[in-house]
Amino acid sequence: MTPPTSRRDRAEAFFRNTDYWQAWSTVPDVTADIAYALRALRPAHRSVLDVPCGRGRLLKAIALHRPDLRLVGLDVNRDMVLQAREGVPRALTLVASVYELPFANRAFDLVACHQSFMHFEQPAAAIRELTRVARHDVYFSVTTRRQLNTLLRRLGLLGVSNVPHWMYNTEDLPSLLPGHEFVWTVTGAFLLGPKALRLSHARYAGLHHLVGRRVPQWLLRRFGQTLFVYGHRRGIEWS
Ligand SMILES: C[S@@+](CC[C@H](N)C(=O)[O-])C[C@H]1O[C@@H](n2cnc3c(N)ncnc32)[C@H](O)[C@@H]1O
Repeated sequence: MTPPTSRRDRAEAFFRNTDYWQAWSTVPDVTADIAYALRALRPAHRSVLDVPCGRGRLLKAIALHRPDLRLVGLDVNRDMVLQAREGVPRALTLVASVYELPFANRAFDLVACHQSFMHFEQPAAAIRELTRVARHDVYFSVTTRRQLNTLLRRLGLLGVSNVPHWMYNTEDLPSLLPGHEFVWTVTGAFLLGPKALRLSHARYAGLHHLVGRRVPQWLLRRFGQTLFVYGHRRGIEWS
């Protein structure tokens, strides 16, 4: 089910209608960031919504770690959804928008939004929907204004990107996050991007493991390139 075009913004139309999906389809299943998304899983969870699921990288990783979970994936791009359906047959997958999730309030124990939030033109509306359908936990990631790619693009050392993208530093988050309903924690990471460093994803993941995880969190939250944001609904026991 795809909501009417008239109600969608330009960024969403980009992801729905262009061949961006082809470029993202070449990103390997396991990259350094996937481990941060898996940290959002708790033993008590029984269901997970992955939105946008892309070609199903995170769904696949969750299916491997937690074969007991009910998995649902959703993306505004039909080609992405077809790939996710093929890659993770046991997940229910559908075409829909993050701004109009076709689910009841608190329908999923965990709602994950991996490496996608920065592509949303209406971040507050997206957060409202993600938290609305989350019973226990919400997870999303953002890129910060400290991306090496941004600097390299400014210096003309990396091609210009036409992909709609908004960046968030730690200080931008409090105004976005509904504090009365959820308790939020933020993990910063040194994730400069394999493209910027011209490394293979495998080598980059090794480097991230070696260097990135040794840097203290107070530095990474402030100066890291990616922030992983975890929300836990108030009044729900942690387990
Ligand atoms: C960078 S990819 C990440 C996909 C996946 N989470 C992953 O890690 O592989 C961003 C995805 O967001 C989807 N997307 C962008 N805007 C969307 C929207 N408004 N609603 C639903 N999906 C959207 C795109 O189609 C694309 O598949």
